[in-house]
Amino acid sequence: MNQLVMQGLKLNTPSYVRNAKLIAWVADMVALCKPDEVHWCDGSDAEYQRLCQQLVETGTFKKLNQSKRPNSFLAQSDPSDVARVEDSTYICSAQKENAGPTNNWMAPAEMRATLQPLFDGCMKGRTMYVVPFSMGPLGSPIAHIGMELTDSPYVAVNMKIMTRMGKAVFEVLGTDGNFVPCVHTVGVPLAEGQKDVKWPCNKTKYIVHYPETREIWSFGSGYGGNALLGKKCFALRIASNMGRDEGWLAEHMLILGVTNPEGKKYHVAAAFPSACGKTNFSMLVPPAGFEGWKVTTIGDDIAWIKPAADGKLYAINPEAGYFGVAPGTNLLTNPNCMRSLDRDTIFTNVALTDDGDVWWEGMERDAPGKALPAHLIDWQGRDWTPQIAKETGAKAAHPNSRFTVAATNNPALDSAWDDPKGVPIDAFIFGGRRSTTVPLVTEARNWVEGVYMAATMGSETTAAATGQAGVVRRDPFAMLPFTGYNMSDYFQHWLNMGKKLAAAGATLPRMYTTNWFRKGADGKFTWPGYGENMRVLAWIIGRIEGKAKGQENITGISPRYEDLNWTGLDFSAEQFNTVTSMNKADWLKELELHTALFKQLEHHLPKELAETKTAIERRLAA
Ligand code: OXD
Ligand code: MN
Repeated sequence: MNQLVMQGLKLNTPSYVRNAKLIAWVADMVALCKPDEVHWCDGSDAEYQRLCQQLVETGTFKKLNQSKRPNSFLAQSDPSDVARVEDSTYICSAQKENAGPTNNWMAPAEMRATLQPLFDGCMKGRTMYVVPFSMGPLGSPIAHIGMELTDSPYVAVNMKIMTRMGKAVFEVLGTDGNFVPCVHTVGVPLAEGQKDVKWPCNKTKYIVHYPETREIWSFGSGYGGNALLGKKCFALRIASNMGRDEGWLAEHMLILGVTNPEGKKYHVAAAFPSACGKTNFSMLVPPAGFEGWKVTTIGDDIAWIKPAADGKLYAINPEAGYFGVAPGTNLLTNPNCMRSLDRDTIFTNVALTDDGDVWWEGMERDAPGKALPAHLIDWQGRDWTPQIAKETGAKAAHPNSRFTVAATNNPALDSAWDDPKGVPIDAFIFGGRRSTTVPLVTEARNWVEGVYMAATMGSETTAAATGQAGVVRRDPFAMLPFTGYNMSDYFQHWLNMGKKLAAAGATLPRMYTTNWFRKGADGKFTWPGYGENMRVLAWIIGRIEGKAKGQENITGISPRYEDLNWTGLDFSAEQFNTVTSMNKADWLKELELHTALFKQLEHHLPKELAETKTAIERRLAA
């Protein structure tokens, strides 16, 4: 503190902040980052409006047409800062083997020495925002508190939507409560009088996690997944470490409620890789033929799941908003999402219409014959017309363009979404993205088989991370970029959880793999997806109720054509065959890839998984 006073910097700590550890840490970080000012966010609407107005004045935000999109803004980022940066994301555990072969690792001392000069003075000319947030309902026994220090007002307003952010967090924290310290900078200090750019970011980027000390340090990016540190960094990478140590699960899963026509409600948690339709599935509208069914959203991206005294696994959504992919979203694919975005939304990297509204690819597909807009300003601020798109292939919206919106805007929001107890999970779904090989849906016969299915999930990459989209990579549990420790230890943790619950006499949730993404020879998707996924969800509920039938295949149990409800959809048995067939040659190749994955993960790989593979190989040979 003395050093601060000497430098003439004021902490501006509000009188209601009484946590000595927090104040000391902020003082240290102010001394390191050297901001011009410190602002403690109170999370009020007035503060949100003030910061948004400030972002409009500095050019980061455009205010959208108030009558078309009330209280909504558009940010268009630097073209180099549009996605998560997995190559620059580190798990700096004390021992390299605890980060495992799927994470980048650097020794903590070496990383601290690397970051020190980068953070020294990184906030000069800027304000440091102190952002207090709770992941999960405030005060819930499943929730945890984080504090993000950031020099980005864009991050502060997004955090207001994505988390329970504000003054009330300090009450829960009290004088000696714990928090996860998160430091974020765009990495662009401003010299005296230097004008800021609309989207400051640095070519050098580091997204760093110290799992033992539960710290997050993020340098150089303003993109959500790199900068909204409550989300991937805390709620998955750090929380997966907490979950392993404390006996719970932090997962890349949506949570939905599904109520059948008899009024019986079930809860499903589903893992899909980034940008593979988790938001759509969590807001699914049952199609014709499913009158009386209802799907409600608890969460769209992350689930924290803990065993309760009744032996069941209860899940909360640690987030309070959705940071979803815009392209492809329309009134047919996700009407609940479209209605959520009618107002109060921050859009990032979508296109701007001439009348001050937003647009993205796929928005036009909800009405036959609906025309493309004649002119737009694309996500990079350039003119866009259908002709330009035809000639150059230019996208009006970036494929990973996003919306940030509060969960409370969702018309399908589940009444228990904010329940501090969470909701009991009846089934887990693990959904890969594969154009071949993996059938529409398969039920695991037991927990170990389910863990095997999840561990060997494969997926064609998407635009949510930089790199080439469309390449098949193994994405165990859809957690490849998010498991904050050794992947094989993570598999073991899942196996241990199952064993423990079973030993206590619990009925374990059933486990399924799905694949909505099979393609035909013409390269087109063969399964209609979206609302039609209800047919699979209803089969899953039927299985839980002991009513739906299926048949054994080499990896588990799948429905036959006659086991699904086809009312309202023209989908023949032959078409069904194209989304469910399992071909021996493909599966021999697939198992070779599982072998390669297990070789990569051999350190601590649970023997049950190798045994399950042998059993599948035997069934395939028979
Ligand atoms: C996300 C992601 O933003 O998974 O949810 O990348
Ligand atoms: Mn995600």
